Amino acid sequence: MLSVDSEKKVPLPGHEPLLPDSEDDTLANEFEEPRRRRSSPRAKFLKLLPYLVHIILITVYSSIFLVLWRRGTTDQDALGIPWVQKVYEMNPKLNESTARLYLGAPTEELDESWSSLLQYSNIRISEEEIRHLDRLDQSVRFTDGSGYFAQMTVYHHLHCIKKIHHFLYLDHYWPNITSDDLALLRAHNYHCLDTIRQAIMCQGDTSLITFRWGHEQPVPLGNFSSPHQCRDWEALDAWNAERHVNVFEPGLVVHPQLGPAYAHLSDGEDVGVAVDH
Ligand SMILES: *[C@@H]1O[C@H](CO)[C@@H](O)[C@H](O)[C@H]1NC(C)=O
Ligand SMILES: *[C@@H]1O[C@H](CO)[C@@H](O)[C@H](O)[C@H]1NC(C)=O
Ligand SMILES: *[C@@H]1O[C@H](CO)[C@@H](O)[C@H](O)[C@H]1NC(C)=O
Repeated sequence: MLSVDSEKKVPLPGHEPLLPDSEDDTLANEFEEPRRRRSSPRAKFLKLLPYLVHIILITVYSSIFLVLWRRGTTDQDALGIPWVQKVYEMNPKLNESTARLYLGAPTEELDESWSSLLQYSNIRISEEEIRHLDRLDQSVRFTDGSGYFAQMTVYHHLHCIKKIHHFLYLDHYWPNITSDDLALLRAHNYHCLDTIRQAIMCQGDTSLITFRWGHEQPVPLGNFSSPHQCRDWEALDAWNAERHVNVFEPGLVVHPQLGPAYAHLSDGEDVGVAVDH
């Protein structure tokens, strides 16, 4: 049996009680003289040294930790949109999974699903937020002075998937397209595919797909059921819904020299993100 001799109280060095200062004025001072001499300022300092070193070390360590931790978190974490663990839906029958809402032959319902998914793409951010990004001098300010035009990147990615899906049904979405416009459309799709490629590599999902043997084919079969670290989509969409701006409101988004920005589009259309040529 292991016995622990814990009852034996050995005074630990540096743990004698310190004399309270309030007793300094009493007559007892005379009798305390030898002890006081032992506790000269230098001795007191030496006694406190381990504590001081610890406090300094803890402060330095905590500061480094906080700085690194802040750097490691993106601004989006500060938005208060929670993370959730999710298993992706992996139903090979498209018509029996959520995928049917966004993929397949064009229907009115399909177009409505996409339009509902992207409805909060255009948002307003505050002057403080655009200053924080250091973009005040290159911003698009709404003419009513309510804030500045922005889009959360995730909606741009979704817009890209939608456009690529449309490209699979070229005749439906772009009947009689000219070869020049087709070339432009192709270039836009390449831009979209490349953005999505970079986003996927950036987010680097490290969850594992495992394999098992099936009964009908010799190739190992995948199991995609590992959970992924995901943004809570409903919360994210709600965050954007609160800041949503109808950019088709007449006179709201107006180029200072060239006039209304979206006069050529119909209300509710995807405005996308244009870039300089
Ligand atoms: C999905 O499509 C398959 C084959 O096209 C069909 O057999 C099945 O009944 C469909 N399921 C639904 C829910 O429509
Ligand atoms: C496309 O062109 C065909 C014939 O060239 C024409 O009949 C059709 O109306 C056109 N469709 C559209 C949507 O312009
Ligand atoms: C994948 O593995 C999980 C256990 O983690 C299991 O419950 C599930 O049935 C598996 N799915 C497939 C398609 O093999």
